[in-house]
Amino acid sequence: MSLLDDLRVTLGSVAVLAGDSIPPRHLSDRSATGGRVPLAVVRPRTVAQISAALRLCNDAGVAVVPQGGMTGLAGGGNPSGGDIILSLELLRGIEEIDTAAATMTVWAGTPLEVAQEAASEAGLFLALDLGARGSCQLGGNLSTNAGGIRVIRYGMAREQVLGLEAVLADGTVVTSLNKMLKNNAGYDLKQLFIGAEGTLGIITRAVLRLHPPPGAITTALCALDTYEDVVRLLRQAQGNLGGVVAFEAMWRDYVAYNCEALKLQLISGDHRFWVILESTCDGAAVEGFLAGCLETRLIADALVAQSHKEARDFWSVREGLSTEALPNVVVFDVSLPTARIGDFAEICRAALRQRWPGAYVFFYGHIGDSNLHISVSAAYGPGEDMHSVDQLVYGVLKGFGGSISAEHGIGTLKRPYLGQSRSPEELALMRKIKAALDPKGILNPGKVI
Ligand code: LAC
Ligand code: ZN
Repeated sequence: MSLLDDLRVTLGSVAVLAGDSIPPRHLSDRSATGGRVPLAVVRPRTVAQISAALRLCNDAGVAVVPQGGMTGLAGGGNPSGGDIILSLELLRGIEEIDTAAATMTVWAGTPLEVAQEAASEAGLFLALDLGARGSCQLGGNLSTNAGGIRVIRYGMAREQVLGLEAVLADGTVVTSLNKMLKNNAGYDLKQLFIGAEGTLGIITRAVLRLHPPPGAITTALCALDTYEDVVRLLRQAQGNLGGVVAFEAMWRDYVAYNCEALKLQLISGDHRFWVILESTCDGAAVEGFLAGCLETRLIADALVAQSHKEARDFWSVREGLSTEALPNVVVFDVSLPTARIGDFAEICRAALRQRWPGAYVFFYGHIGDSNLHISVSAAYGPGEDMHSVDQLVYGVLKGFGGSISAEHGIGTLKRPYLGQSRSPEELALMRKIKAALDPKGILNPGKVI
């Protein structure tokens, strides 16, 4: 019997889609770099089915590519061709909310927003949040150690996880659904699977840590004239105002492009930097703090949102959906020492414009987390493609001691550059761990390492 027959017999034929019945959404994530055709898409409903499927694939030596909501930007969920896609989308739902422990136990295929809403209904707060909340799935969020807009206050996805269940390449189920904040009994095994992009095991369930709800949030938009002022505003907001739950900076061109596309006029005048500052302090406290910043000329202008709609307008500029639609757009998620981000952006822009004079080059990002996004849309010449942009950007980054991925992960797109951000010893240890957990190399091969 072939592997497909075995999978159909073991999981039921409705769980196995092959040929023309494979929905196109399984072919590429949002980087639009996929397109190869897998052997089949398998949609298990239980952990036992995942375990059985992995055992069969491992015995057959056929690659398995786990998929969540396919909102990734690094190609991590794309099939390489002839492999088995393991979609977690039917393994969904909230198993339990434990209000005494302040935890939520969720299945991997649960959309992030569904989990956020369930936490909120229980009077608690799930701190992980990102633009793709409606379509991304928690299994993918954890597999990529997603970042997002609340990291400055609550940390990355990793910091929200207390317990985890994962299935190994040979089908072994490792259930470790710890709910306690403190547990030092040996190695912290869950961390192996978080951020591993499905190369070490398939995450099936997680215990997430919940927080008290932050309460009302005040959203302000500030205009500044230098990058140094952006950093000073960050530190003063944290030190003198407090309750900072988001700090997002945008460079002039990004704001201008998105405001134009959205037909929004937020603050008049031409300013080099814009910051969305969110605090749990009330409107009066934020206004008082910003008035002080205006007086000392730390900021050039500011607007405190007076309604939910106004706050949404600020965020819609930041989310920048219109820039995502530009041709050939490549999105970077580098991190580098906070103080150097301003200089890096200038040098990077100059280098990109020199090579592609008409290119769109946008900078924005989670500056409080030392994480800068760059969106580049260039018209390629002969022999050029997105890898030409990668090479140039990572070449500039090299001189700044940064990381090629702050939050999106390595996938296939950054794999050639991993050695720029990790030492030979780190890479050798990663390979040892990979070989120990997945000796036949069936789990998401060609990704990360
Ligand atoms: C963002 C994505 C690109 O922060 O990470 O908008
Ligand atoms: Zn981001």
